[in-house]
Amino acid sequence: MSKNLSIKYRELARLLVPWYISAKRTLPWRTSRDPYRIWISEVMLQQTTVTAVIPYYERFLKKFPDVEALAQSSLETVLEYWAGLGYYSRARSLHASAQKLAKLGTFPKTYLELFELPGFGPYTARAVSSLAFGENVGVVDGNVIRVLSRVLDLELQWWKPADREKIQMIADVMASSENSSDLNQGLMELGATICTPSTPSCMLCPWSKVCLGRERDTISRRPVAKPRKATEFWTWDIDVVEKPSKGFLLIENDYAPFLKGHLVPPGKVKKHATRPRQFDFKGAVTHHEIFVRVKRITSASASSAAGARSKVWIPSHLLKSKVPSSLVRKALDLNAKV
Ligand code: ADE
Repeated sequence: MSKNLSIKYRELARLLVPWYISAKRTLPWRTSRDPYRIWISEVMLQQTTVTAVIPYYERFLKKFPDVEALAQSSLETVLEYWAGLGYYSRARSLHASAQKLAKLGTFPKTYLELFELPGFGPYTARAVSSLAFGENVGVVDGNVIRVLSRVLDLELQWWKPADREKIQMIADVMASSENSSDLNQGLMELGATICTPSTPSCMLCPWSKVCLGRERDTISRRPVAKPRKATEFWTWDIDVVEKPSKGFLLIENDYAPFLKGHLVPPGKVKKHATRPRQFDFKGAVTHHEIFVRVKRITSASASSAAGARSKVWIPSHLLKSKVPSSLVRKALDLNAKV
């Protein structure tokens, strides 16, 4: 990286940190530098918004206040406290890592060591090491890609590893010159509150005077849009099993290519070349157009519907909080408001 570019990135960092310190939202994981609390928040915040995460986070921390409490719990209890956040593999990895951390007796401080633990990818390892321990490494997530692509007018194909690496290097240079915890959270905060995907509030931005995207009027084209996948047509035959005493039978989705890791009813999916004609209702998840057919089956055949997979029963009054997909809620409870 040239010296001039490096100076420019450091200058951006220098402008961002004081803005973050004065503008940051008070969020429950920002009240301490406890690596455990930061770790849990970063895992929950992958794929889920801040507003949705807060109540789950507080409940989870009350139940599992530290590594030891999480390590000693059964996996079932952890999954119960995770229900509603989706992507249950995250909760499994969290539990597995807690057990390794409890054995270690200490929380590793570098991202390279954290990277060895289950569920710690490049993002989580870097976020925890910088936010909790101040390691000088940058983090790259969707918000960071957006703000850096705009301020530097980067025409990068960020979904490709080589281009993502370039963004990572920029973030690393920025984090090396400032308090990396404030810098990294500043990048996230700018993306979440000012440099939002549509209609950003440029008048409030600490970078408005130096933003190349603004100068060249390319903001609406940055970051470059990832090419969309072609629409696929799927039927989803759903077995709805309901017991008055327990609620609806759900399993962790291991059979459909959409709603991966969500709690779903047992069923079957099939891909079609054209739009199917017979269905109860339809919905869409990313590039999947889904034609749902619902069959209510008696609880006597419930275990065969679920097979050997781990089951949970969710009472209907908890559907809204435990099942984020409105498509699934509608299938379960065709008459209910979704
Ligand atoms: N998104 C991911 N990590 C975050 C954090 N620490 N604060 C706010 N939003 C985030």
